[in-house]
Amino acid sequence: MTLSSRPEADPVSQSFGSLAPVRIGLPEEVRHASVSALNRLLTHTMAMRDLYKKSHWQTAGITFLELHQLFDKHYDEQVALMDALAERVQALGGVARALAGDVVSESRLARAPHGIETPHHQLERLLDAHEFVLGEARPLAREAAERGDDGTNDLLVSQLIRTHEMQSWFVWRHIPRTIQRDERG
Ligand SMILES: [Fe+2]
Repeated sequence: MTLSSRPEADPVSQSFGSLAPVRIGLPEEVRHASVSALNRLLTHTMAMRDLYKKSHWQTAGITFLELHQLFDKHYDEQVALMDALAERVQALGGVARALAGDVVSESRLARAPHGIETPHHQLERLLDAHEFVLGEARPLAREAAERGDDGTNDLLVSQLIRTHEMQSWFVWRHIPRTIQRDERG
């Protein structure tokens, strides 16, 4: 089989945006709303994952080793989160977003400088990103509970929100040290 240069022209067994008739006792409209929320948070998660790897590679200075290791730990946690979100989409009968192009079109977090930022700016960017995702996730988690999708609510609260809050705390705690270093040049 050869793949055409127009991917949408190739046959698919389930089109994006459609729902498979999974049998988990949740009505189609509930599953549809949850898939859409989860896919939105999935693209943010893929953007966070990439932001952490970029920061892991590009950090420098006296805090190099500490931040290099911290950023990779957070990268691993974002990868685990990404997998949990994508598999929840599939379990609901949906189609998970999976491509780099989806991240660019769906998440504003994908837009960061190509160049190397100072450690302080890396941390500030990550803090902003965490706060942005948390601001989006909390109402989506509440709405999932309100429509009776407890599994999605649980995933968003116990895994996504808690991971972001914890990572944000670790990032925030490093800021005073990087400011001191940046001021000294
Ligand atoms: Fe590495």
